[in-house]
Amino acid sequence: MSTHSSSGRAWVEVDLDNLIGNARAVLDQTPGSRLLPMVKADAYGVGAVMCARMLERVDPWGFGVATVPEGIQLRQAGIRRPILVFTPAQPAQLGTYREHDLRAVLDRPELISVWTLPFHLEIDTGMARCGVRWDDGAALARCASPQLEGVFTHLFAADVDPASVAPQWERFTEARRRLGMSPRLVHVANSAGAWRLRQELALVRPGIYLYGGRMASDLPMPLPVATLRAPVVSLRRLTTGDSVSYGGDWRTSGPTTVATLGVGYADGVPRAVQGRAHVLLGGRRYPLVGRVTMDFVMVDLGPAPSPVAVGDVATLIGRDGDETITVDEFAAWAGSISYEILARLGARVERRYAGG
Ligand SMILES: Cc1ncc(COP(=O)(O)O)c(C=O)c1O
Repeated sequence: MSTHSSSGRAWVEVDLDNLIGNARAVLDQTPGSRLLPMVKADAYGVGAVMCARMLERVDPWGFGVATVPEGIQLRQAGIRRPILVFTPAQPAQLGTYREHDLRAVLDRPELISVWTLPFHLEIDTGMARCGVRWDDGAALARCASPQLEGVFTHLFAADVDPASVAPQWERFTEARRRLGMSPRLVHVANSAGAWRLRQELALVRPGIYLYGGRMASDLPMPLPVATLRAPVVSLRRLTTGDSVSYGGDWRTSGPTTVATLGVGYADGVPRAVQGRAHVLLGGRRYPLVGRVTMDFVMVDLGPAPSPVAVGDVATLIGRDGDETITVDEFAAWAGSISYEILARLGARVERRYAGG
């Protein structure tokens, strides 16, 4: 993979071999299940079409997206397996689901009674987001349908509160009894659930683990998948008391060299990392200083004459020499989580694929 930027701007390197390695690790944890990889939000920012094509190698049942346009994008790219759209469908969308052969998620009996395509029923066992509540027996009794292909629930704290998984499973089991039929495809586990839920189910729905985000401190780390790099686009020598970036709220305490990188908040570097983030250059850590701007960030290279030159490549997430910044470390600087950092990588950041 080229280490230089033709655009003169940031790029993301996506390691497809590690994506597949992570998918196989999930399958090893869930013998007897097939994958329903979540490739929503452009596969957590790293590219849904490319990831779905690669994941074909592990023979997934299908793919999970959040929105109809995300599903259509996969269909138009030639993906043939089932695509399940997790935002509950609306009545007016039936024709679009049929036209693009999309599977709906439904959670309203009145819509289920008129939906003429295969669908999956979501049961709310504690997430309180979408789905029929597990204890709404009257509604559940009205959800049986010849089109009901799958039934699922979503774990709300499998990562941070393993004890929450068993009660959710019990609620789910009770709800399925109330439903009065047993659809073929049952799915519950997200990434952390694949490690915490000891039930053999038809499908497992990993997301963050596939893309290299840590699930919990007591669960295995995935292989890294996304590396964010940006070139040095400008360099300057500053004297004592010079300010850097908007607001002038960061000032040099002595002579120093400051490098400007071609990446900013429009590319996915949150402003909130200010004062905490570091980047790697030549295998060493340097602090990011001053405010994050839309298109650029500045890095303090220190007082000594610096070997860094315009065109050198900085690593914001990933490895450089013996140093690594994980997506989780980067996310913590922003008071955020790996999911949000990846999903918000900017549209203008080129995705470069390696391996596969
Ligand atoms: C319904 C559903 N299933 C599975 C997942 C995957 O979760 P994770 O990324 O934690 O593996 C998500 C992601 O938020 C989801 O919304």
